[in-house]
Formats: sequence, structure tokens, C-alpha cells
Amino acid sequence: MKYLITGATGNIGSLVTTRLLQRGEEPCVLVRDRRKARKVYGDRVEIRVGDLTWPAEQLATVFEGSEALFLINTGPDLAQRDANCALAARKAGIEHLVKLSTLDVTTGIGTGPWHARGEAAIRRSGVPHTFIQAAAFMSNALSWADSIRTDGALFSSTGDGKIAFIHPGDIADVAVSALTRKRAQETPLVITGREALSYRDMVTAIGAAISKPVGYKALSDAQALAGALMWADRAYAEALVDIWRAVREGRLATVSAGVEQQLGRPPRSFVDWIGENIGAFGGKATRS
Ligand SMILES: NC(=O)c1ccc[n+]([C@@H]2O[C@H](COP(=O)([O-])OP(=O)(O)OC[C@H]3O[C@@H](n4cnc5c(N)ncnc54)[C@H](OP(=O)(O)O)[C@@H]3O)[C@@H](O)[C@H]2O)c1
Repeated sequence: MKYLITGATGNIGSLVTTRLLQRGEEPCVLVRDRRKARKVYGDRVEIRVGDLTWPAEQLATVFEGSEALFLINTGPDLAQRDANCALAARKAGIEHLVKLSTLDVTTGIGTGPWHARGEAAIRRSGVPHTFIQAAAFMSNALSWADSIRTDGALFSSTGDGKIAFIHPGDIADVAVSALTRKRAQETPLVITGREALSYRDMVTAIGAAISKPVGYKALSDAQALAGALMWADRAYAEALVDIWRAVREGRLATVSAGVEQQLGRPPRSFVDWIGENIGAFGGKATRS
């Protein structure tokens, strides 16, 4: 099977590419910057340079020769990119398109509407597809590291609401499982972590792992928006505040059996993830 992986210099795409390599596959990656990809993969993958904002005809020449496509698009215009990619995939004869989407397609919260429009365009294209509708990633908690290290606290507008963050490794395992099955799965793969936790629960667990108390400080939506605007554009910052409000109101506490159904094992826990990332929070890795 000839796999073409997008987002291969990012969080999930790099895990998917590495897992395919470990299975003895020879994936190609589509990247904007050849040198950046070389730094990550050396000569282990074929690198195709392209940009997912290109029109379909141009993208089709980059997709050519691939059988399965792992698609990651980001940002407020991702639906348009998904639509172009789907047309390009059809032109290039891609047999299976696996899209990283979001659980919020079903709730309409945050980036959900962007991905819902992207999914609709892919469905219309007629390209056989599988949608992975993932919950929020545990790796989002890396953005808490600075305030945990500096202030010993997390500042958030999520209140006591809960959410079942998913381990990035589980998303990659599900993606590889979908890609290597070689056939589309009609029903979207809805995947979450094993349990819904409040942000206070999660920072308390981080505190236990680094042997320092970590507090939770409540923010209003307006304060949370002001904070997000310091590093994100307005559309993304507003989407984030929308998600945090939904967490607070208990609208994002879904726990699905998707990982277990697809992989035959339970999802990794948040404590597992902390153990792997403890250095980011100022803790020391322990030998097992
Ligand atoms: N974070 C969450 O909690 C969450 C939850 C559910 C779903 N999602 C979805 O997951 C996706 C993000 O996945 P991620 O965290 O793995 O992403 P990421 O780490 O931000 O990486 C994005 C990747 O996309 C590439 N890219 C960006 N624009 C491109 C373009 N125009 N052409 C080609 N490549 C381009 C980047 O390449 P460069 O190296 O060139 O920048 C990078 O490899 C989004 O669709 C998001 O909505 C996120």
C-alpha cells in the first residue's frame, strides 16, 4: 500500500508516519518545507513538497501514485482545503482518504462546524473515506506548563466541567489501524480518552507527579479570550473559548468506546501521558 501522510511535521501526522515506518511500510509525506521534513525523517521517507492550500489540479500531481491519504487540515478555512484535497484525491485515484476530524462535528462547538463542512465536501467527492472524530488531545495540556512552572497554577474558564482528553498515541494508533485496513469505514470513528476529568483533576494529577501542589484558578470567558488572543488569531481564540465554555457547562463530557472497538485495548490514561511528558512540567522522569 502506498501511503501519503499530510501534517507529517506536526503532532499527529509525525506519530502516524513513525508508526507506519515501524511496521515496515514506506510512507511518503507531503510537506511544505523539505528541509524540515529531512530533519525529522532523514532518508527514511519519500518527501513530496506541496501545500494543502493549492488548487485541486496542482495538488493531484502531488497525490499521484498514492493509494491511501491521511489528511490533516487546520484553521478556519480547513473545509475549503478538505474540499480541494478530496477533488485532488479523486483525480489522483486515491482509494482511501482518512481524515483527522473532531468529536465536535457532532456538537457544533469550537472547530466542529469547520470540520463538519470539510467532512461534507469529502462525502460529496465520492472518494472512499474514514473520518476520525477525536476528542481534545492530552498534548493540549503542554500549553499549561508555563503557568504551572511559574505560578504553580492553571488559569482556566472550564470550571468544574469534565472532558475525556485523548492520548495522541491513541489517535495515531487508530489512524494507522484505519489506513492499513485498506477499506473505508462508513461510520465515523468517535474516539476519546478513557475517562472525563475536570481541569482541576488534571492539574492535581500533574502536581502529584511533580511532587508540588498545583492550583486551579477560575477565569471568566472574557479573561480567557484575552489570554488566547495573546497567541492565537481571533477565529481560533473564539473557537477555544467556545470549547472551554462547553466544558464548563458539561456539554463535552462524552466518553466513547471507539479506541477499544478499533484497537481491542483501552485508551491510555492521562496519568500515562503525564509520565511521558513530566519534564515539561518541571518534574523528573522516573526509571521503571
Ligand atoms: N488539539 C485538539 O485538541 C484537537 C482535537 C480534535 C481535532 N483536532 C484537529 O487536529 C488537527 C491538528 O492536528 P495536529 O495537532 O497534529 O496539527 P499540528 O501539530 O498543528 O500540525 C499541523 C501540520 O499541518 C501542516 N500544515 C499546515 N498548513 C499546511 C499547508 N497549507 N500545507 C501543508 N501542510 C500544512 C504543518 O506543517 P508545517 O510544519 O509546514 O507547519 C504541520 O505538519 C486539526 O484539524 C484540529 O482541528 C485537534
